Amino acid sequence: MKVAIDGPAGSGKSTIAHELARRCDLMLLDTGAMYRSVTLACHEQGVDVHDADAVARVAQEVRICFGTDKDGAQTVFLNDRDVTASIRTPGIDADVSAVAAVPAVREAMVAQQRSLAQDNDVVAEGRDIGTVVFPDAEVKVFLTADPAARAHRRALQRNIEDPTQEQEILKDLKRRDQADSTREVAPLRPAEDAVHIDSSSMTIEEEVQQIMALISQARQAAANQTPTSDAPDAGEKEPAKKEPAKPSATPSPKPKPKPEAKEQPEAKDDEPEDPDDRFYDEEMRKFPLRHRALYVATLIICGALSKLLWPWKLENGEELWNAEGGRMVIMNHVSMIDPVIIVISDWAHGRRMRPVYKSEFDKIKIAKWYFARIGAIPVKRGTADIKAVRRAQRAMQRGEDILVFPEGTRVYSDDQEVTIHAGFALMAQLAKVPVLPVAIVGARDGAPGGNKPLRPHRIFMRAGKSITFDELGVKGRKKQAEAMEKAGMEQVYALRDELRKDHPGKM
Ligand code: DC
Repeated sequence: MKVAIDGPAGSGKSTIAHELARRCDLMLLDTGAMYRSVTLACHEQGVDVHDADAVARVAQEVRICFGTDKDGAQTVFLNDRDVTASIRTPGIDADVSAVAAVPAVREAMVAQQRSLAQDNDVVAEGRDIGTVVFPDAEVKVFLTADPAARAHRRALQRNIEDPTQEQEILKDLKRRDQADSTREVAPLRPAEDAVHIDSSSMTIEEEVQQIMALISQARQAAANQTPTSDAPDAGEKEPAKKEPAKPSATPSPKPKPKPEAKEQPEAKDDEPEDPDDRFYDEEMRKFPLRHRALYVATLIICGALSKLLWPWKLENGEELWNAEGGRMVIMNHVSMIDPVIIVISDWAHGRRMRPVYKSEFDKIKIAKWYFARIGAIPVKRGTADIKAVRRAQRAMQRGEDILVFPEGTRVYSDDQEVTIHAGFALMAQLAKVPVLPVAIVGARDGAPGGNKPLRPHRIFMRAGKSITFDELGVKGRKKQAEAMEKAGMEQVYALRDELRKDHPGKM
């Protein structure tokens, strides 16, 4: 599902898109923030924003991604640095239109936008989403508002009370509207099949409701079209009793009614269903027999070889094996063996564990095919990957275990800088399951990575005590998730230190 929200600066796109993302479980893609980030990179590198070739080079080199702060607001990262605040300044406002008008910049950004959105249900906001980035978006909205109202909103957003400054903002908005609408490449204009909404006289809630009705209708049309495993998903995400889309939105000159647009067969061809989706969403025990056989064969072979090479053991494993219902298992990550042996250990005791892995691996087709069939779930790092969060949530609610390495990547030495990814706490919280900390030592020596060969070595794992949200003694969802993130990782590292003490020399 792609939802495209286009419109001029200050038309309320960001607020609306943020609300839609939250209420409809969509990933939020703020494309304006990406052009702003390129502009910031130009400023920082001393590149003249009117030198198209130099600006294009900057755009081709930057890596932009998104995160979420503690209050659930979106954060923007430029080459892994948080630039959320620095891209919303008058200096960036002044130059961003020039940067966004460079064709090679747009090409680079559109490629990044499509890649960020790949495999996700997305609400994207910008100027060319419905026309260029996602021309097949199921829902397209063009938001407008009169310029004075837009300037006033921008002033409020930036805590500006001085009327002269508001006038300056108005002037700048008009200049940018003009520049964005008249540029040669991907000018700001509504897609032919976009629904126009003039927000000057509407409340945010009215706008959100109107667009949610369109989303609901598009999901319904999609569910009717694909009566497969995706149907319940679409239903679940749907607000319980949404009325069908109201025709009160002003359609564009040549309107294409939304549901019919969705039902066009070519829309399906352009964006095929991912055939692996069923493996992420279905109970593992119900996978087709041949895939279950593949799974069992893999685990028996890997189990036998790994036991021979690295006689391993999960201490206090009963905490996991005897657990009622699914568990969120978190673990330190030192080698490629870690997921293999914990999954085997879980399976050998009659349970099923789905490891969560970074979606970059999916670029290798065979890896994606195989991981899907052994129950692994891809997660897009650097984005609020709601789809992965929901998949993990549903798996744990079904009684499957989820394995997350909150360190996000293999940690080769204790000096390596590590960022803890907090997604596990959210997944556990949504599924209402405890978090089980597990530590591993010895695997770093057994499978050192790089070109170094595997070598025999003992590996030890130890499970801690399951941590429930109630026992954290904190109220409020956000605070609880933060407390779980902290407590969970503290336990993992405490267990690891205990193991190192009990088995000296094991890292
Ligand atoms: O939405 P915003 O004000 O953050 O956008 C910043 C600038 O980026 C705006 O002047 C137009 C440009 N932009 C664009 O050209 N295409 C997009 N999809 C998004 C923004």
